[in-house]
Amino acid sequence: MSLVELYEKYCQCQMCPLHAQGRSQVVIGEGNPSSPLMLVGEGPGADEDRLGRPFVGKAGQLLSKILEAAEIPREQIYITNIVKCRPPGNRTPEPEEMSTCIHILRQQFQLIRPKLIVLLGSAPTRAIIDPKARITQVRGRWIERKGVRFMPTLHPAYLLRNPSAKKDAWSDFQQIRDAYYMLLQG
Ligand code: URA
Repeated sequence: MSLVELYEKYCQCQMCPLHAQGRSQVVIGEGNPSSPLMLVGEGPGADEDRLGRPFVGKAGQLLSKILEAAEIPREQIYITNIVKCRPPGNRTPEPEEMSTCIHILRQQFQLIRPKLIVLLGSAPTRAIIDPKARITQVRGRWIERKGVRFMPTLHPAYLLRNPSAKKDAWSDFQQIRDAYYMLLQG
């Protein structure tokens, strides 16, 4: 299956209650389908739901700035979320919504085969690494699973609320940049 076929398969998805809670479209993800680096956020917000693209609202603009400062071209990597439909009021997705939706993300892992996966915030970190993980404790270190390295880091929306934490995210993204360029250099 290709990413286009994946989108066609799930663009009308009704597998969890979010489909009937005001989402206007499924936001599957975007970017380079052969990138060694994938970023996984929480779920689409209002702007993402309107435009059908991940991370295009205020948090997304901050993410773009961080990527630019780290010299990681946004269009060269792949960006998605743990849930593909907007939770009402931009709330955190419920564990059941994440566990229902995660098979789409697993198919994206299979299709794209990233070597580095950045988990933005608690929701993807808990869904993928450890349901009890505390992001402030696990961030900033690579966790290797089956040859893939995962880096939990702070969500850009958290950074907007807590600007003093930007230095921590920046130190994480410097590690991410170094690992990304090492991989590109082969
Ligand atoms: N926050 C997320 O976690 N994902 C988005 O796509 C936008 C905001």
